[in-house]
Amino acid sequence: MPTPKFIAALKGERHAVPPMWFMRQAGRYLPEYRAVRAEAGGFLDLCYDPERASVVTLQPIERFDVDAAILFADILLLPHALGQTVVFESGEGPKLSPPTTAGDLEAFAAADVHDRLGPVYETVKKTRAGLAADKALIGFAGAPWTVATYMLAGGPLKDPTALRAHVYRDRGFVDALLDLLVERTIAYLSAQIDAGVDAVQLFDTWAGGLPGPVLDVVGVKPTERIAAALKDKHPEIPFIAFPKGVGEKASEYLHLRGVDALGIDHALDPAWARATLSPHLTVQGGLDPMLTVVGGEAMENAATRYLRLFHDAPYVFNLGHGFTPDTPPDNVKRLVDFVRGRDWA
Ligand code: CP3
Repeated sequence: MPTPKFIAALKGERHAVPPMWFMRQAGRYLPEYRAVRAEAGGFLDLCYDPERASVVTLQPIERFDVDAAILFADILLLPHALGQTVVFESGEGPKLSPPTTAGDLEAFAAADVHDRLGPVYETVKKTRAGLAADKALIGFAGAPWTVATYMLAGGPLKDPTALRAHVYRDRGFVDALLDLLVERTIAYLSAQIDAGVDAVQLFDTWAGGLPGPVLDVVGVKPTERIAAALKDKHPEIPFIAFPKGVGEKASEYLHLRGVDALGIDHALDPAWARATLSPHLTVQGGLDPMLTVVGGEAMENAATRYLRLFHDAPYVFNLGHGFTPDTPPDNVKRLVDFVRGRDWA
């Protein structure tokens, strides 16, 4: 079986045309997603329906022929699997019932996460079976800090990093929650790998805006524990960390055991990333998703900057964060054609 180009890039191979996929590539900006979503009922119903989840996972491959599919699921399935109430209301963002006592954490610890997550592993199997050998399937989870911010805040957050007050006030409680999330995330990602994903990504959407010592405790260390444990169990499976918004503190993630690639967001200077990160690992992403809303030459000129800067380094073309629902799919098609339209080496 040929190694998918995306997997080769994560393992350090360079390409004149880099492999590409897009964060939130399956989602509301696609009419074919909205159609399946309407049939499924609620968002969680869609996530737990292997047939439909597999269909929407494959939609961006069919429409754009990107190099990788990302499992259709959500980072909040893990708190749901721990027994927390999680509700998605349209247009409002998720709502959760926050744990407050050590007893609440014990109840989470007693749950067998695989009970509720079984359908997700089924989606992986179905999707891998429907995917060409040269395309990769990406599994994912939220990083413990990002998942914990939703778990603790209970609803949409104005300033998620304000949760750092919990770190200062009640370190024991936060440590216990993060420990539990580290362990369960390892089990969840490991089961995704057993079911057939070819690589995994850990989304730390709220890693930005933290002082160094806090980032180390809530972001860097938990990431390394998860990456290293997965590397021990599944040495062939590449691991992508995406600590969004950390700026030049991204260098703290450079030498973590088990981390093969680092996602960069649109606020990070790509020239800095090329000089500082690329000598050590594969870099992924960076393009401002707002440019895919705008399209045209603005989008192409910005893409050119990333493609030129990273042409002689292992690189995966992607965004700095996910597509927003107002992204015209035709702009995405134009971007894919543009990236593939010439030799960047
Ligand atoms: O295509 C893909 O990227 C695959 C699936 C995927 C979803 N969520 C589907 C989804 C992935 C990888 C995620 C990750 C995720 N979910 C993150 C980390 C990355 C990021 O975007 O920062 C976070 C923080 C979440 C939590 C989450 N899920 C929120 C805050 C919301 C509501 C906000 C919104 O945009 O509506 C979701 C819902 C969600 N997850 C949707 C999709 C397609 C939209 C819901 C719908 O279809 O009704």
